[in-house]
Amino acid sequence: MKFFVDTANIDEIRELADTGLLDGVTTNPSLIAKTGLNFLDVVAEICAVVEGPVSAEVAAMDFETMLAEGRKLAGIADNIAVKVPLTRDGLKACKVLSQAGTMVNVTLCFSVNQAILAAKAGASFISPFVGRLDDIAADGMNLIAEIMEVYANYPDFKTEVLVASVRSPMHIVEAAKMGAHVATVPPGVLWAMFNHPLTDKGLAAFMADWEKTGQSIL
Ligand code: G3P
Repeated sequence: MKFFVDTANIDEIRELADTGLLDGVTTNPSLIAKTGLNFLDVVAEICAVVEGPVSAEVAAMDFETMLAEGRKLAGIADNIAVKVPLTRDGLKACKVLSQAGTMVNVTLCFSVNQAILAAKAGASFISPFVGRLDDIAADGMNLIAEIMEVYANYPDFKTEVLVASVRSPMHIVEAAKMGAHVATVPPGVLWAMFNHPLTDKGLAAFMADWEKTGQSIL
């Protein structure tokens, strides 16, 4: 399973990149706005820190402008994945961009129908928003299961399922059980994956007992 971090905060990205466990980054207009910085500069800086796919979202709603924006974003770095919304114009732009060899992440996916269309449009990634479905008492992880089931029927689909709108480590566990390709995770949730009270308790006991030996390894 690949882990992308869902943030545009370069300090958070650097900290997670240092673990060696980070495979990419996803941003969106809301995450960019939170930085208060220039979008193109932020994306370029992220691309210089993380080798894997870095999703940068178009702001236009019409095909022609989406295409122009997508081409400009793709020109920032080789590891840019242009993010387009799951709309008619978004998938039209996805088709053209993907045929030109640009990675495309189709975002704001909330149904299997949408995921099928994105795969047909040549998307590199499809981003179903599981947390936002859970927020309205729908079953976000069931959408992932159904998309994985449908995609398995079509080996020619090259689209990777990128589980998004992740709210807890349990979303990641469930996604991994389903074989989802990628999870894009808020920094706090990624860090929470490391934590278990029995690990802390066991390590404290090991260190206390080691101290008693009076030895050192180096
Ligand atoms: O960035 C796409 C997605 O991960 C957004 O998640 O928490 O705003 O629903 P969220």
